[in-house]
Amino acid sequence: MQNECWGIILAAGQGRRMAEATGGEAKQFLRWKGVPLWWHSAMAMAASPAVHGLVFVFPPDRKAEAEAELFKLDKSNNLGVRIAVAEGGYRRQDSVRHGLEALPAGCARVLVHDSARPFLSTALTTRLAAALDDNPGLCGVIPGLPVTDTIKEVDGDGIVAGTPPRALLRAVQTPQAFPVEELRMAHARAEEEGWDVTDDASLMEYCELPVLVIEGEAGNIKITNPQDLAMLTENKPLLPCCGYGYDVHAYGGNRPLMLGGVEIGGDFLVSAHSDGDVLLHALMDAILGCLTAGDIGHLFPDNDPKFEGISSVVLLDHVMHLAAEAGLRLCHVDMTVIAQKPKLAPHAEAIRRNVARLLDLPLEHVAFKATTEEKLGFTGELKGLKAVALVTALR
Ligand code: CTP
Ligand code: MG
Repeated sequence: MQNECWGIILAAGQGRRMAEATGGEAKQFLRWKGVPLWWHSAMAMAASPAVHGLVFVFPPDRKAEAEAELFKLDKSNNLGVRIAVAEGGYRRQDSVRHGLEALPAGCARVLVHDSARPFLSTALTTRLAAALDDNPGLCGVIPGLPVTDTIKEVDGDGIVAGTPPRALLRAVQTPQAFPVEELRMAHARAEEEGWDVTDDASLMEYCELPVLVIEGEAGNIKITNPQDLAMLTENKPLLPCCGYGYDVHAYGGNRPLMLGGVEIGGDFLVSAHSDGDVLLHALMDAILGCLTAGDIGHLFPDNDPKFEGISSVVLLDHVMHLAAEAGLRLCHVDMTVIAQKPKLAPHAEAIRRNVARLLDLPLEHVAFKATTEEKLGFTGELKGLKAVALVTALR
């Protein structure tokens, strides 16, 4: 197809200004929301109807690895545009030149973008391409914002040499849109004349070709210095959730009655593979419910000899570990044991305190109740006891 518009996503820098904070990882390979930064630029640009394809420019020594990830990501989350890959060069402008070489013959317009700007919008991409189309006399359209600081020019010793009028200044961003032929020509001249630039619009300027600055986006910042990393922390809102647990144990076994990790003792022995703490079992199922992580039967099968006689406190510890890994924040627990006998009121406070300790919750957020079923059903007939637990949490 003729007159196509492609993007060049530059991801071949070393990120030296950031290196110490990232442990040496080049910033464009940092992961944000589970994918590398360069993929965020790709998604934003590819979603624009103006864009037909993307050239990714990766460091030569990481090209194979990055290309494999690119195709994997495109397979699971299709960009819907054509893709090419090029090797980066020593300077940014060398990487752009290599990217230009990888464009297909039908590509007439190009949007050069720094992958270190992962927050660009699709709308910006579309506006840039449209502005270039609408102004055939232009050799470039770039996004920029008025500056708020007064900018000084200084000499090599830091002595002020001049103050350009602020109203005329723009802090410019990428993507920068150009007709491909003119940009190729400008890069060729840069090679011949030894120009060294930090953006492509500078080359057009040196060639005395007109470039228009349109309004950029305040959010389209370039991740450059260590403090910029804060912008990559996710402020995902925590959502409330509830988990419900229910468990039954029969009387008539050989385990002394335990509830909430507290030994109740007495004549009522329970039958169980583990220690038979019906309350902690219901509680664990409620926590697992918040985690949508199955149930205790699934985690600790009752035909596995390693759980024979195991303390439910140990099992709860494992469940709490899963909760911590998933970032679950427990808020409140409400538990009820249903038993005709023994009388549980004398143990209620000890159970509450122990569960609060095990869950690391303030005591006022742990409720424990005991009730009978008025001599009805299996609890009424002293065949066993049951427990229910409701956990509220943030996740
Ligand atoms: N870039 C590139 N090839 C280079 C140098 C830079 O593709 N030889 C890319 C970077 O990956 C970045 C963009 O150009 O996405 C803008 O460059 P800059 O912000 O300077 O990134 P780095 O050069 O990687 O960082 P630093 O200057 O701190 O080393
Ligand atoms: Mg650089």
